[in-house]
Amino acid sequence: MAAVKGLVLSGGKGTRLRPITHTGAKQLVPIANKPVLFYGLEALVEAGIEEIGIVVGDTGDEIRQAVGDGSRFGARVEYIPQLEPLGLAHAVQVARSFLAGEPFVMYLGDNFITGGIGEVVRRFATDQPDALILLKRMPEPERFGVAELKDGRVVRLEEKPPHPLSDLVLVGVYCFQPSIMEAVDAISPSARGELEITDAIQWQIDRGLRVEAHEVLGRWIDTGKMDDLLECNRVVLDLLEERRLGTVSEDSRLMGKVIIEEGAEIIGSTIRGPVIVGAHTRVVDSFVGPFTALYHHVVVEGSEIEHAIVLENTVIRGVRKIEDSLIGRDVVIERGSTLPRAHKMMLGDHSRVSLA
Ligand code: TTP
Repeated sequence: MAAVKGLVLSGGKGTRLRPITHTGAKQLVPIANKPVLFYGLEALVEAGIEEIGIVVGDTGDEIRQAVGDGSRFGARVEYIPQLEPLGLAHAVQVARSFLAGEPFVMYLGDNFITGGIGEVVRRFATDQPDALILLKRMPEPERFGVAELKDGRVVRLEEKPPHPLSDLVLVGVYCFQPSIMEAVDAISPSARGELEITDAIQWQIDRGLRVEAHEVLGRWIDTGKMDDLLECNRVVLDLLEERRLGTVSEDSRLMGKVIIEEGAEIIGSTIRGPVIVGAHTRVVDSFVGPFTALYHHVVVEGSEIEHAIVLENTVIRGVRKIEDSLIGRDVVIERGSTLPRAHKMMLGDHSRVSLA
């Protein structure tokens, strides 16, 4: 079999992650201070896949800038513009010339899996089924794409079925032979106006092609929503090794696993890990609680924060407690000093605020 290529999907609308996605790509939201997309690229390279095409949409420039030519991942990366996010099967169509009739692994750029994909890629290369899809047993399968299996073969796929026939749901990683091209060309748009990859795979099943399943035993998180991003951040922080590169004042207390990046400063503060404090971030007279990732050049002063992701250049000052939160870039949250004591805000479209 020809060398397997990688196709990473990093376009899309990202409506569920607004307002973050008004100004940035959701695939670049950091999980434990590393863009979620990078974990996927690393998993592909680890599985021996070095030729990777990244499908990009409106946020293409930002993705290009972050990933470059792929050399720092040990890959050769090409960018494939998708002018409109018309579905996962449409993304395969626009990648036609990059794929050049070769087998490939399609990886959704906002999906996160622990344990890598080496084993499944080896099985795909050896057994050469038409499609090998990754599945995971999940509670509430009706929220996902669900697969029905018979004798190890996939016999039916259904998007968000009200009465799921199994608890095996589609994880955002698929291995395809070039025969998928015929399927993506044959199907019509779904009710939501997208060319669905599940319809393309079902088309293959209906014509007797060999569609097999591989069960993922590690964690799988689709980081398309805030709660799932925070959950993913929790999982990854738990896996990281401690590292202390920045400075910590003598009157600060660090408990548990705390990662402090270069140029970061912790002054008069308590940090209860697992926590990561990004490069050149300052934490002053504050408490930073478990499962928090502060990205680079953040300032937290006289505040308490727990179970949160804070993006770059944001300032949090004099705020009693922030938790379960995703806070964007260049945001300022501070306690006002003038009367009347009121919540004063300038929030972007689709922001969500929950006041104590
Ligand atoms: P989704 O999260 O299913 O879709 P979306 O990005 O439009 O998000 P939302 O539902 O919140 O509006 O997409 C999964 C991944 O595939 C994600 O990384 C975006 C990418 N994608 C494309 O590259 N092209 C597409 O046409 C679509 C639909 C998604």
